[in-house]
Amino acid sequence: MKKINWPIWPKYSLSDQKSVQKVVSSNRLFAGKKVLNFENKFRNFTKSKYAIAVGNATQGLHLALAALNIGKGDEIITTPFSFISSASCILMQNAVPIFVDCATDTLSPNIDAIEDKITKRTKAIILVYPFGYAIRADRIKNLSKKYNLYFVEDASHAHGMFYKKKHAGTFGDIGVLSLHQRKSLSVGDGGMILTNNKLIAQKLRKLRSFGHEELSYNYRMTEFAGALGLNRIKNLNKENKIRQKNAKILDENLKEHSFIKLIRPISFSISVYHKYLLRLNTKLLKCSLKQFSEQVQKKGIPLKIINENRNWDLLHRHSIFNPKVTPARGLPWLDKEYKGFMRKIKSYKKIKLPVIENLIDNELLELPIDPPVNPKLVNRAIKVINETINKNCY
Ligand SMILES: Cc1ncc(COP(=O)(O)O)c(C=O)c1O
Repeated sequence: MKKINWPIWPKYSLSDQKSVQKVVSSNRLFAGKKVLNFENKFRNFTKSKYAIAVGNATQGLHLALAALNIGKGDEIITTPFSFISSASCILMQNAVPIFVDCATDTLSPNIDAIEDKITKRTKAIILVYPFGYAIRADRIKNLSKKYNLYFVEDASHAHGMFYKKKHAGTFGDIGVLSLHQRKSLSVGDGGMILTNNKLIAQKLRKLRSFGHEELSYNYRMTEFAGALGLNRIKNLNKENKIRQKNAKILDENLKEHSFIKLIRPISFSISVYHKYLLRLNTKLLKCSLKQFSEQVQKKGIPLKIINENRNWDLLHRHSIFNPKVTPARGLPWLDKEYKGFMRKIKSYKKIKLPVIENLIDNELLELPIDPPVNPKLVNRAIKVINETINKNCY
């Protein structure tokens, strides 16, 4: 079989190019009308009361915690299964991340596991919609209300994803989405913060742009990014439908396979498949997960392990939380005044989170299915995956 050329996401269109050129011609390149219009479009799209554009989601998450007055000594409960930014924001505010193991259906910490970790120091919960699959955000919201905690949703993978008819990022106090080049709504570098709370929105806006009354940042979105976002949001639903159609073909054709377990979107949700995820039963195969992925990739199908590029290791194993060199301002979990759980444990590497560790090390694979990936390509992928399984069976 000829090696397959899997399309790269995204490809910027002629109208994207024109939208950026217009910004240059206008001679106003920093945040202006385009950013404002993009915020309004995003607000309408997500039915959020306020949308605040920023330079990227890392800035957005940092601003979120700063606006909620998270600080020294606070504990923030979060997931180990994410990109570094959803927990580095906690360190940026000198607070202590508490990582909780994930459930196999949502790949996210479930309510009981979170409740177990709540202490008098806990101030917030940050959870992620992993690769555009839903989590039970309504229940997390109820839990956070019960304990008087803030709930921040990192919806960086979930553009256009609705759970129980509400857009990802609108359940909690603050939601943040990434608009990075590789995301489904892509402007190169960009981020959007959502909130329904007027006071929080005011604080976020103040902190975003220097803030002449209190220590603040310059975390604004550029006008180019605003123009691109305005142009590209028009296609988001159509593009998500293509992802969903591709996923359906994979679900239907891989589902009976005893070597493969599917990640089924939970009830009341449709995933937007930032990546299509599947679980391989490597115990039944002669090869490791990595070897399987390499064999499939040789045929041109980019079925990858999660940490393929070495920047998606589970966060409790990540070097930021296990630094070789202590940063000048110290490590918040070793601070003398902090008396919580992590002070005794000392090193995040010592924490055992067996469910998510096993999934990442032995089972979970990701496949991009963004347009223009089509049914023909998806069927080729299914064929290659099945052939590779047959080759590696005992
Ligand atoms: C879950 C998650 N959160 C946050 C980020 C950070 O996004 P940005 O690159 O816009 O800062 C990423 C980036 O990949 C991500 O995957």
